[in-house]
Amino acid sequence: MKFSTKYLSVCFCIAYAAAGTTNAITTTLLAKGPECDIKDGVVTITPECVDTTYKTAIITDEGDEDVPIPHYRVSGYFDETNIDFTIYLPKNGWQGRFFQKVYPLQNSTAEDHDIVFGADSGGYTNQVAGGGGYRADAAVAKISRTIAREYYNNTTSDIYGYIYGGSGGSLVTIGAVENTFGIWQGAVALVQAVPVSNPNNFCLRAMAGLVLEDHKDTIIDSIRPGGNMNPFSRLDAVSREVLTEVTELGIPLTAFEDFAGIAGNRTNFLRTFRVLVLPTIESFDPTYVNDFWTKTGYLGTENSGLGDFYRRMLYEYDTVVQDTHIEGRNLVSVVLENVKSTPPAHGLQFTIQSHVGSSTISAGKFTAQLDSDTRMAVIDPGQNSTLLALVSKGTKLHVDNRAWLAGTAYHRHQIPKRPGFDSYDYLRNADAQPRYPQRGLLIGETVSFGASGGGNFTGNITTKLVVMDSLNDFDAFPLHADWYKGRVANALSERFNETYRLYYTESADHFAEPVPYDQLSRIISYHGAYEQHLRDLASSKSQQMLQIAAEYSLL
Ligand SMILES: *[C@@H]1O[C@H](CO)[C@@H](O)[C@H](O)[C@H]1NC(C)=O
Ligand SMILES: *[C@@H]1O[C@H](CO)[C@@H](O)[C@H](O)[C@H]1NC(C)=O
Ligand SMILES: *[C@@H]1O[C@H](CO)[C@@H](O)[C@H](O)[C@H]1NC(C)=O
Ligand SMILES: *[C@@H]1O[C@H](CO)[C@@H](O)[C@H](O)[C@H]1NC(C)=O
Ligand SMILES: *[C@@H]1O[C@H](CO)[C@@H](O)[C@H](O)[C@H]1NC(C)=O
Ligand SMILES: *[C@@H]1O[C@H](CO)[C@@H](O)[C@H](O)[C@H]1NC(C)=O
Ligand SMILES: *[C@@H]1O[C@H](CO)[C@@H](O)[C@H](O)[C@H]1NC(C)=O
Ligand SMILES: *[C@@H]1O[C@H](CO)[C@@H](O)[C@H](O)[C@H]1NC(C)=O
Repeated sequence: MKFSTKYLSVCFCIAYAAAGTTNAITTTLLAKGPECDIKDGVVTITPECVDTTYKTAIITDEGDEDVPIPHYRVSGYFDETNIDFTIYLPKNGWQGRFFQKVYPLQNSTAEDHDIVFGADSGGYTNQVAGGGGYRADAAVAKISRTIAREYYNNTTSDIYGYIYGGSGGSLVTIGAVENTFGIWQGAVALVQAVPVSNPNNFCLRAMAGLVLEDHKDTIIDSIRPGGNMNPFSRLDAVSREVLTEVTELGIPLTAFEDFAGIAGNRTNFLRTFRVLVLPTIESFDPTYVNDFWTKTGYLGTENSGLGDFYRRMLYEYDTVVQDTHIEGRNLVSVVLENVKSTPPAHGLQFTIQSHVGSSTISAGKFTAQLDSDTRMAVIDPGQNSTLLALVSKGTKLHVDNRAWLAGTAYHRHQIPKRPGFDSYDYLRNADAQPRYPQRGLLIGETVSFGASGGGNFTGNITTKLVVMDSLNDFDAFPLHADWYKGRVANALSERFNETYRLYYTESADHFAEPVPYDQLSRIISYHGAYEQHLRDLASSKSQQMLQIAAEYSLL
């Protein structure tokens, strides 16, 4: 089927532009109608309105496919954007619905598993490249209805859509359910991120990693089956304080059985913290690290056991580059003239010192892993190459872990201002004032707003929403889904019970990928559970399901 017959849907007129590309025909789908409302930069999308950024879809390819199931595939992109999409229309068993998984970093190729799940559930599958928040997804949902009606020769009945996504994809999902009307008839948000998750959750994990590393065996021993679940009683005062802080603020205590996942490199956490989290903090809040080490109210200066611990952990010295190793055109490592004592295993920054007149200034910094025996610092991938080009034999470097240490306490200075985050009361005094100085901006708000494409987490949802969190999730804390539940209850009042459900999966963590072999004795996959929720939402059981109120209590 080429879109060679004229078909007018409610909101799309299909115009044709025959272009001599390698594929026989390039079809242009041009949305027509009133422009969607925009308020404070947030676009509200209805079936009738046009989001001007995603107004023009160019269909670049279409045709029959046999793998993973027989289907008709339509691919395209939005003009003047880098967002492309694919629509997978199964040949058999369509029951008038579609499924659409969202994630900020995904490409437009759906996993075979998702195409098969959609088809088995009576749906076609949409997959939109990430980066367009819920808006590009909504535009594809609309286009897909036009295409499906034509493909299935069924212009009469409604087509029901279901959007779902985990972690960063939950942000897109919430953006969608708060800012669109009639585009999707149901949504599932998995392992839910909220406006404090990034960076605060990472900071808590890094603090746990830093302070509790030497006690991890004790903690794991208390938490494993057969333990008494009370590692606190076996820790010294400083470690107890930190384990209390990070669990009060949301890391599930049971998750500490997987200490290497929370704070080690089983999950690549150390690299994530180094190359993503610290630069994010620095870009939003460039004076934080210095304040941490110089001002009152920050651990760097605090007169306490924990403050002493942080100062003991401080590692810094000046050195000179003795040799460089270049691969291709990139500097990959440097050998230093000397290495002071035993450097920390991770978290070092290398600041390039340059001389201007008689004073030394920083020309910028990079991160690397320093080995004290070989005196070699292996430079992390993705560092600024312009800056690395300044490094040669004789370059003076200042080596330190100030930013890493400061970053592990950043959550203390990021108490959310929104109502309902009761867990953050842990960081307040009895008079409700913050115990520690608060920074001028809340990074988590900006991150969630951006990743969701404009979600404000008001809880005012426009379609049925199932949230599913995992009780051993140390990335998206179970407590935070409960926070959002409160927002929805507040916004919907009497419509709450018929619109929203929160489910928790026990013995599951954050990751949608198959559970690694060495974790199988501890963790189960939550895949089957959320696919069942999607099917329930899509079936007539939807009403029934929403009549059963979930009952749980959070410990
Ligand atoms: C197609 O249209 C008919 C009504 O003409 C309807 O009964 C049927 O359920 C529709 N949907 C599908 C998926 O065939
Ligand atoms: C799309 O993403 C998947 C999963 O990350 C990857 O396996 C695949 O190679 C990517 N496809 C393209 C065309 O980049
Ligand atoms: C829709 O109708 C056309 C023309 O009658 C037919 O060729 C095509 O196979 C039909 N599509 C489906 C999915 O049944
Ligand atoms: C973690 O890092 C250490 C040191 O860099 C390495 O020896 C170890 O193999 C890594 N573990 C994993 C699971 O990547
Ligand atoms: C890389 O470093 C150079 C020199 O300090 C700087 O001008 C440039 O903005 C940096 N680029 C990025 C992407 O940070
Ligand atoms: C988000 O909601 C808050 C109130 O909860 C409001 O003050 C703020 O203006 C909203 N922001 C946007 C961009 O809509
Ligand atoms: C929620 O959104 C609806 C529009 O869907 C609006 O009428 C209502 O006032 C909003 N409620 C709150 C509490 O903001
Ligand atoms: C929702 O259902 C629960 C459990 O049945 C009940 O306690 C609560 O009052 C209901 N809330 C509303 C707003 O109807």
